[in-house]
Amino acid sequence: MIEKTLRCPSCKNQIKITGNPGDKITLICPNCKTKGAFTFPNEDGKFDNSYAIEVSNITKKFNNFTAVDNISFSIKSGEIFGFLGPNGAGKTTTIKMLTTLLNPTEGKLKIFGIDLSKKPLELKKRIGYMPDVPGFYNEMKAADVMHFYGEFYKIPKLKRREKIDYLLEMMDLTSFKNKKVKTFSRGMKQKLGFATALLNDPEILILDEPTIGLDPRTIRFFRKSIESLNKKGVTIFLSSHILSEVQAVCTKVGIINKGKIIAVDTIDSLGAMLASKGAKIVYFEFENITEKAVKAVQAIPGVISVKIMKEKRILEIEVDVAKSLTPAINKKLVENGINITKIESKQINLEDIFLTLTGGGQ
Ligand SMILES: Nc1ncnc2c1ncn2[C@@H]1O[C@H](COP(=O)(O)OP(=O)(O)OP(=O)(O)O)[C@@H](O)[C@H]1O
Ligand SMILES: [Mg+2]
Repeated sequence: MIEKTLRCPSCKNQIKITGNPGDKITLICPNCKTKGAFTFPNEDGKFDNSYAIEVSNITKKFNNFTAVDNISFSIKSGEIFGFLGPNGAGKTTTIKMLTTLLNPTEGKLKIFGIDLSKKPLELKKRIGYMPDVPGFYNEMKAADVMHFYGEFYKIPKLKRREKIDYLLEMMDLTSFKNKKVKTFSRGMKQKLGFATALLNDPEILILDEPTIGLDPRTIRFFRKSIESLNKKGVTIFLSSHILSEVQAVCTKVGIINKGKIIAVDTIDSLGAMLASKGAKIVYFEFENITEKAVKAVQAIPGVISVKIMKEKRILEIEVDVAKSLTPAINKKLVENGINITKIESKQINLEDIFLTLTGGGQ
């Protein structure tokens, strides 16, 4: 028999349960009567149903336009998932489906193993959501905004007050508690949006480009807060088009492009790929090249790859980003009697990675 203490998602009441490995049980909170389900871990200690979010073959069409095209991925409980993609890729559309603001045209979404379309309200209470542009009523005061959302979650008034004070303090907004939102800067609105997303003690926190337009200090604050919430067990879904942001905090990454998922991987695997693809490319142009000169360039420490292009008139050389090798390559080519006509370099960026992954860059 396994003994487990669970927390009611609605009233946070602690419930003790016992069961055998793999048992699936339904529960009713003795305090607030909220219904729920729990699966005990298997004998090997693994949960059958340890996914916080499961997206299966989801498509979203706006009339004839397919914004999200048959995407599938899953996020384990306790993960920090980075949802990466360029503008218009389908990130917000996916998030709106996960937060029940949009209905998928096709496919299935599960939150904690439960079909989202069957229990939208119940599941929404377990999710905190910070939209890309927090749309507050400008004439409302910060505290009133939070009470408005707190009422939606049916948080009792006294508890709500305490919670709002705590969250505003956490966001360094206490002195703006009774100030109208229209007097808030962009960063302050973002922080208020963040605080609002935490009102219901969410088990999943979904953040749509939370740090867009923020200064480095506030970005750092958001990052630290995300990490500390995650340490407390909150699953994080973070959308962004900033690679470094995702790399800094996420454990797993999904890349979406033109509505399609093109990679889902751990940050370590993606990091390894980026390390190779994050190198710098230098192009050398000349009249002609010799095999001896190519070999000499290949032998320079820090040169990753050398490609001969345009009928031996261009060398595409991938170099270790940490080293500035252009002068050394230049010297080697000159030593080998090559008459260089042009040198160009470029940094591989997110777009190149997309192109590489989608096969469009070749
Ligand atoms: N309500 C809508 N009606 C029609 N098209 C829409 C609607 N919402 C989004 N789209 C389209 O769907 C595509 C994906 O948009 P989405 O907002 O999901 O992108 P995104 O990845 O969040 O981009 P960004 O980084 O700019 O926020 C875009 O081409 C957009 O024009
Ligand atoms: Mg968006």
